[in-house]
Amino acid sequence: MYTEKVMDHFQHPRNVGEIENASGVGTVGNAKCGDIMRMYLDIDDNQVIQDVKFKTFGCGAAVATSSMATELVKGLTVQEALTVTNKAVMEALDGLPPVKVHCSLLAEEAIHAALWDYAEKHGIHIEGLQKPKNDIHEDEEVEEEY
Ligand code: FES
Repeated sequence: MYTEKVMDHFQHPRNVGEIENASGVGTVGNAKCGDIMRMYLDIDDNQVIQDVKFKTFGCGAAVATSSMATELVKGLTVQEALTVTNKAVMEALDGLPPVKVHCSLLAEEAIHAALWDYAEKHGIHIEGLQKPKNDIHEDEEVEEEY
């Protein structure tokens, strides 16, 4: 049911953790299943993503897609990071079962939320970046794992 790459990223997720004093942090929830994802971005003065970490209280597909998404955005500029859509992440994982496609949105939306946070804090406009839809406020208590 799951591809080898999905299993690999689920069992050995890359970039799990958090970044202290991150340039941007985004937390989103998936209304469908209640799962939660938080992304941390470390962005340098040239707007290049130097480091990225994630934490999730989410399913295996959410872990795998986030792990792959962090690998894909690392080293990109904030503008280029917008090309890392859930579709691109799924392709990089050789596909996801149809019922799990919504899980891959969590990774994309969390990255967008973190980019939005970065842009707001630094007074930067990122062309094409939409305000995150289901950003969960930082002051809300969320349970975290991973
Ligand atoms: Fe919730 Fe996958 S079932 S993110």
